[in-house]
Amino acid sequence: MAKSKSVFVCQNCGTESPKWIGKCNACGQWNTFVEELVVKTTKTSASQSFLATESAKPVAIKEVEISELPRINTSNGELDRVLGGGMVPGSLILVGGEPGIGKSTLVLQMALQVKSRKVLYVSGEESPQQIKLRADRIHPGGENCLVVSETSLEKILGHIKNTNPDLLVVDSIQTISSEVIDSLPGSVSQIRECTGAILRVAKEKNLPVILIGHINKEGNLAGPKVLEHMVDVVLQFEGDRNHMYRILRSIKNRFGSTAEIGIFEMLGNGLREVVNPSELLLSHHDESLSGVAIAAAVEGMRPFLIEVQALVSTAAYGTPQRSSTGFDLRRLNMLLAVMEKRAGFKLAVKDVFLNIAGGIKVNDPSIDLAVVSAILSSNIDIPMPSGVCVAGEVGLSGEIRPVTRIEQRIGEASKLGFERIIIPKFNKGIDFSKYEIEVFQVSKLEEAFKLLFA
Ligand code: TYD
Ligand code: MG
Repeated sequence: MAKSKSVFVCQNCGTESPKWIGKCNACGQWNTFVEELVVKTTKTSASQSFLATESAKPVAIKEVEISELPRINTSNGELDRVLGGGMVPGSLILVGGEPGIGKSTLVLQMALQVKSRKVLYVSGEESPQQIKLRADRIHPGGENCLVVSETSLEKILGHIKNTNPDLLVVDSIQTISSEVIDSLPGSVSQIRECTGAILRVAKEKNLPVILIGHINKEGNLAGPKVLEHMVDVVLQFEGDRNHMYRILRSIKNRFGSTAEIGIFEMLGNGLREVVNPSELLLSHHDESLSGVAIAAAVEGMRPFLIEVQALVSTAAYGTPQRSSTGFDLRRLNMLLAVMEKRAGFKLAVKDVFLNIAGGIKVNDPSIDLAVVSAILSSNIDIPMPSGVCVAGEVGLSGEIRPVTRIEQRIGEASKLGFERIIIPKFNKGIDFSKYEIEVFQVSKLEEAFKLLFA
């Protein structure tokens, strides 16, 4: 009897070890090694046969002919935008996100809407009846969408051969397993083998594929990093499950920019594309409230205005609490220290709560100025003047640092009827006269505070 060999594989990064170890030497994670059986891969193993058939000759780069990449319109404007103008045939697109965030909904909705293309939707998580129930809620019809509940890689490859689809969806890659590998679905070697086999089919048939992926507790895509290297596009679907807004972010894109984001709203009948985010993210108060500041932010390539809310109150217990939703807590602590040290506000004994309205997470550093303004406004209990928005990154010495895409921010604020905007002094060389908004430039925190609250 042939002796089967087993190795221990780090489930985080895919490093192999002959014996079990507690901490992975490569990625530093603890307790990630799992025993997996090794199967001697035969010569026809997934990726090898694909490479063998392609024997291209090297050519001089200036002789390479470029043809405009054909794109498949997904009938979903926001998704097309994030993909850089639609799906490229033969590409592998990985969509990751927390459980229940709406990955299956997003992809099924697209599968139902995409015009005159045969879609094969393989689900390892739901039965065809469950998919049908969901499909009826979001988009009745769907004549071109075939569904099958399957977890075996070999059977899926068979279905592809028999149905010859124009688009393949696999929900999710962690539930699929190959018979040749003797380890559990979702393990590093299964994911590697299954993705490799699907990749080969995609390239051979020029078939675009959407893979849905789970994420682990740290918020990274579950499985080996090699999964992200193998696919052409990695999209992350994120948002607060208790709020309606979802953001689709591109983390990697071989055919376009990763700066684009798509915004959706989860409704009872599926996801709605949000074309004008500012109008939704601003709550419309009649009277001015203290602790609210409007930031002219840019996420992806799009400017939008978001509302930052702060509540500052005297700490009831010894250690003041700092909590933030949608904004990095460490950055909040840093801004509080800057306000204390450089602008002389005594916040060390205060509880500070910060919230970005709408439940979205913002990475743009230019909302710093709105954060400190909201905190100060709440601290002194004076509302910000109405019709004012701000944009600026705050540095460690209390200076207001320049921000990118300032003209887009000013344009968006002016479009939404704001009367004044405060921006960094160092954003130079801009002709403000073409905007119907009054622009104030500041170089220090105190100057901004004086303009706002004096
Ligand atoms: P789902 O797509 O199953 O999430 P994932 O595949 O990422 O795990 O979506 C989950 C949530 O979305 C579910 O809790 C219900 C909600 N939902 C709606 O609010 N409206 C809808 O039309 C649909 C289909 C789902
Ligand atoms: Mg799902």
